Amino acid sequence: MKTVTIFANKGGSGRTVSTMALASGFLAQGRRVTVMDCSDLAGCEASPLRAWREQMATRAQLDLVECQGQEEVEDNAAAAEAQGIDVLLVDTSARIYEPQLVALDMADLIIAPAIGSLEAKRITHGIGKFFDTPEQLYGLVIGGQNRLPQATKTRKAFGFLPVFKSELPWAEALSEQMLNGDIAQFVASLSCKPDEPGFARFRAAQMAWNAVQRLTFEVEWALDGYRLEELDNDQSKVPFGRRAVA
Ligand SMILES: Nc1ncnc2c1ncn2[C@@H]1O[C@H](COP(=O)(O)OP(=O)(O)OP(=O)(O)O)[C@@H](O)[C@H]1O
Ligand SMILES: [Mg+2]
Repeated sequence: MKTVTIFANKGGSGRTVSTMALASGFLAQGRRVTVMDCSDLAGCEASPLRAWREQMATRAQLDLVECQGQEEVEDNAAAAEAQGIDVLLVDTSARIYEPQLVALDMADLIIAPAIGSLEAKRITHGIGKFFDTPEQLYGLVIGGQNRLPQATKTRKAFGFLPVFKSELPWAEALSEQMLNGDIAQFVASLSCKPDEPGFARFRAAQMAWNAVQRLTFEVEWALDGYRLEELDNDQSKVPFGRRAVA
């Protein structure tokens, strides 16, 4: 089992949306996924992950567990491992909080999402408080397309941290995952032909879903110790933009 902890020391950074999007990405690859809610809303009626899980009720490969203390985190992680879960995705709170620290400690990979440069700076400045050696910590830019200049600024603001090349796009279909359930299912439900009404919405959702899948692959590579790099001085005739390095 691989454990991926989504971390940001600022509220509203896109942790929960990233968790849901990656869960969809891994499910589409046929993986068994457990989402662990270690956020402040774990156990609350208003939990967005609970609402989302209800929308995802038909997905037998997905499980949601909620944790409010160290033991719960450890017990649920051990149970997931014993059940043969492939990926454990942990959503966390913005404040320093016991379950979050345990989740950071047990992570194979930590993903720090940032919607803007402010969050990215907070993460790079706050790192020392949370980690001794943040070897497996990657920044994730949330943005893209019409928010391109901001996405570039956010990427820069991560400074020395490695950042995923794939972004999580800003998309209605992603912000509505709690209402729609799986982004893949949502895209399928919108599916229509170019001359039919709703095609633009379908295309936008489909592009977002493609980007989520790209990101999922990149996360998987990172778990295997690879990361994408720009390809300089490439001699090959085929124009590849990036390569994976160990
Ligand atoms: N990729 C995206 N596309 C569209 N909207 C997004 C995207 N990511 C996040 N949002 C919106 O931004 C807001 C914050 O995102 P989210 O709830 O994931 O952040 P969080 O870090 O979990 O916040 P909290 O501190 O409340 O737990 C939400 O309203 C969400 O709908
Ligand atoms: Mg959240």
